[in-house]
Amino acid sequence: MQLPSTDIAVTYAQCPKKSGQISNPVPEGPCKKFAGLIAAPRMGSASCDVRDKPSEIKGFDLQEATMANDSTADRDLARQSGTLADLPPATGEAFRDAIARLPSGVNIVTSAGSAGKAGFTATAVASVSDDPPTVLVCLNRKSPQNKLMRENAQFAVNLLPKDAVTLANIFAGRTGLHLEDRFKHGDWTTLTTGSPVLKGAVMALDCRLLSFEDVGSHTVYFGTVLATLTKPRHPEGAKEVLIYHDRHYGEA
Ligand SMILES: Cc1cc2nc3c(=O)[nH]c(=O)nc-3n(C[C@H](O)[C@H](O)[C@H](O)COP(=O)(O)O)c2cc1C
Repeated sequence: MQLPSTDIAVTYAQCPKKSGQISNPVPEGPCKKFAGLIAAPRMGSASCDVRDKPSEIKGFDLQEATMANDSTADRDLARQSGTLADLPPATGEAFRDAIARLPSGVNIVTSAGSAGKAGFTATAVASVSDDPPTVLVCLNRKSPQNKLMRENAQFAVNLLPKDAVTLANIFAGRTGLHLEDRFKHGDWTTLTTGSPVLKGAVMALDCRLLSFEDVGSHTVYFGTVLATLTKPRHPEGAKEVLIYHDRHYGEA
């Protein structure tokens, strides 16, 4: 979709359940009419600021929320310009085959708190902002760890060293271990939040949960980084990070 070349002020839609809380960023102002197009694929998803109590968070119609004040003319223009919005997405298989070619660091995302302790292997981790330091991680919505991530409201990202394939498989559920039992393997410590941090991690980010949003099959968790651990670089620049590429482990 080509957005108009006029100035686009990116502001934030509010969670409809509470005023004054930041939820979904959508273009507004000169580009307000496009909010519906951008929001459309997210219809039916749940999204809220983490400061809402988990029990209060329900799915809502973002398209309706963002277009509620649009004029009929705005909506008609959005529909005319919606050619791409009408097209079906690529198949899941085609997408997985393509995205498998993207090399990614292998992480274990952990969370500990009143809801218990758990962790999962994840490549869907990304830097979002450096001021304030913010990261995102994506967790399959079918995982029981979603409840835990939301209730604990904190998590840690641990980038694995190249020799941690066994640990990666354990936290990917490939050995049949679940929740706390996975932590019987590995040498763990904590930083600020109490979420488990792997002592041998290449780097670790200890986060307070900022917000989360369902997007298709996964929930995206945004975290504000409170503390970090960074292993000193290898003096001869040797490979030290476990990566995943083309459905195989590798080193970088
Ligand atoms: C290399 C690798 C990367 C993975 N990346 C993710 C990911 O980013 N998000 C995700 O939800 N699952 C990912 N998985 C799968 C989860 O690790 C796996 O489903 C795990 O068992 C989830 O925990 P659970 O069994 O407690 O739900 C990945 C698995 C592997 C082997």
